[in-house]
Amino acid sequence: MRYLPVSQLKEGMILGQELQDASGRMLLEKHTRLSKENISYISFLEVSGIYIEDDFSKDVEIKEVIQPEVKKVSLHLVSEIFGQLTDESDMAETKDFQENVQNVVSNVLDNRDVVYNLMEVRTYDNYTYFHSVNVGVLSGVIGAKMGLVEEELQKAVTAGFLHDIGKVFVAPELINAPRRLNEEERIRMMDHPREGSSFLSDNYRFHPDVTKAVYEHHEWYDGGGYPCRKNGRETLLISRIIKAADVYDAMTSKRPYHDAYLPSEVLEYIMGRSGMEFDPEIVKTMVQELCVYPVGCEVELSNGEKALVIENHKGYSLRPTVKLMSNGRELDLTADRNAWNLTIVKLMV
Ligand SMILES: [Fe+2]
Repeated sequence: MRYLPVSQLKEGMILGQELQDASGRMLLEKHTRLSKENISYISFLEVSGIYIEDDFSKDVEIKEVIQPEVKKVSLHLVSEIFGQLTDESDMAETKDFQENVQNVVSNVLDNRDVVYNLMEVRTYDNYTYFHSVNVGVLSGVIGAKMGLVEEELQKAVTAGFLHDIGKVFVAPELINAPRRLNEEERIRMMDHPREGSSFLSDNYRFHPDVTKAVYEHHEWYDGGGYPCRKNGRETLLISRIIKAADVYDAMTSKRPYHDAYLPSEVLEYIMGRSGMEFDPEIVKTMVQELCVYPVGCEVELSNGEKALVIENHKGYSLRPTVKLMSNGRELDLTADRNAWNLTIVKLMV
């Protein structure tokens, strides 16, 4: 299986994944042979790329941290909580929510050696739900790499899922505005952490750390964030993890006001703001553990050759094993003697 930008899809290619929206509705089935109409439909959904199956990539296996079913349930439960703000709270539902969080945490712990895969295919219209679930999962992944105990991981995933729930009270025109907000709008927007945490404490019985982390997810390590300008010593570790996961996922996604940045560009950004916006320990973990060249993506090497990434090596995110497009030969950029002077110069997404 390999990842292709939508612009490179051609009629007759075989879909390597099922495509569904945030509510779990099937849009296109796995193994669909793409027609012209399918391709225009995929472009219309504004996904940036998609996995396809072909002979060249048939042995490439994409390992996921979270089982597709657990992910699907997460999306469903997050969209329900976001969508039911006016109703009375339903504790039975919170129970489902907590159970699902436990499943996410066990997936994260079981797959500790799987590199978090970034080329996630999501439809554009339900950005909030996909983003919320990703921030929860990524917070769990970072927390697990940092050695957090299970109870803390559960809080991190829960608060990650719900971090932006306060945005439901902000007008969508403001949230998706493809322009700089004026002063008044910015103040309105900056109230979402407070609104979100009071909504949760008024309506649900999550652990107080969960509501606190929702409140603190825009604070900076050096005290330069909002709403309270708390510094890193005053905030919870899970709040600082969610802060970093939030920025990471938002920047690697296509938004109305920016295109998706490459994973390497986002890590550069986060490294540049280590000790300022982000907790240095968290930055260190992300740089070591997140992958820069996701499996299944095409890259260009410094000698001009094109290759497909087939395996990542823990701690060597810049030097995965690749398969050369020209002759199908595999090259381990960390170990192969012929590769010592080769670098990856471009991710073709
Ligand atoms: Fe937020």
